[in-house]
Amino acid sequence: MSADDFIVTPWHVEGEIDYDKLIKKFGTEKISSELQSRLKKITGEDHFMLRRGIFFSHRDMNRILDDYEKGKKFFLYTGRGPSGHTHIGHLVPWIFAKWLQEKFDVKMYFQLTDDEKFYSKSGLSLEDTKKYAYENALDFIALGFDPKKTKIIINTRNIQTLYPIAAQVAKKINFSNTKATFGFTNETNLGMIFYTSLQSAPCFIEDESVLIPLGVDQDPHFRLTRDVAPKIGKQKPALIHNIMIPALEGPGGKMSASDESGTIYTTDTPNMVKKKINKYAFSGGQPDIEKHRKLGGNPDIDVSYQYLRIFFEPEDKKLKEIYDDYKSGKLLSGELKAILIEKINKFLEVHQKKREEAKNRIEEFLLENK
Ligand code: TRP
Repeated sequence: MSADDFIVTPWHVEGEIDYDKLIKKFGTEKISSELQSRLKKITGEDHFMLRRGIFFSHRDMNRILDDYEKGKKFFLYTGRGPSGHTHIGHLVPWIFAKWLQEKFDVKMYFQLTDDEKFYSKSGLSLEDTKKYAYENALDFIALGFDPKKTKIIINTRNIQTLYPIAAQVAKKINFSNTKATFGFTNETNLGMIFYTSLQSAPCFIEDESVLIPLGVDQDPHFRLTRDVAPKIGKQKPALIHNIMIPALEGPGGKMSASDESGTIYTTDTPNMVKKKINKYAFSGGQPDIEKHRKLGGNPDIDVSYQYLRIFFEPEDKKLKEIYDDYKSGKLLSGELKAILIEKINKFLEVHQKKREEAKNRIEEFLLENK
């Protein structure tokens, strides 16, 4: 890997990602200002995650919107690999999905891939990933999805529903396709090799076409799904991609649920949030106050600032003030961190209450096998 290089696959993200290069590498389309305006016009709202390029790339978004304007509905689908507790970065595509569901008034499927994380992580038993699937479902439900229009798929629980669809897909993907896409070797277990067909299955669970909001690292699976779709008489899934959320320790790589220190979980106490951010959040500030006042900080590499931009400060005016003050040296790193800590803890206070309530409602959301 050379200095300006990076790796983005569903199971491995490394280096500092150049998103324009990634768009070329993956063959996706950048979300243009025209598409942004179109979404704004249809939904009546200028979502900050679009405006700020948190969602930056897509496949076939315009087809979905063309059809929608002709009165043809679509449905939404996204998912989570339950390898641990939910961290705040995971909520980004889910919050955006919730917004899409409200604006377009469409159905939504959420897949929890307990099998995938069992196959891909050596330290996790199937019981572990099942347990985390349940825990992660609570975070998803806590965001306020409507149970009449939203179903949660847990792979080992819903295999009866998924399998006939997965079989259609699996027959059209051969080993050299997956090998080329994911870098599999002869040592890769069979579960991993088959897995893309299971992640593809929810795309074809309805007769409508599907729009998938997702982290860009998941794109390779759906590249394969899109190749398969016409071969089994289905529409290609449309995708809208978000950037990877940086780990607390700094740019390069995503926030990994398995790396304790670099991660803020939705289950963390206010004190844990404070400690983690103060101790680990990568700072774009100067080494001492005197220098900081004189030279100012660099918000573009400062993780606390990035979290505000990506998630916790939707108001542009406030965000810009923080940006300018930090850059000029008026705002110190400790003060910037304090702003973020307060925002996260306020969010988590509400979220954790809703998460508790979700425990009584989980059954309403789980997909029943037919
Ligand atoms: N493989 C994803 C992960 O590890 C989970 C997932 C399943 C998913 N289906 C999806 C993610 C659809 C995005 C869209 O997190």
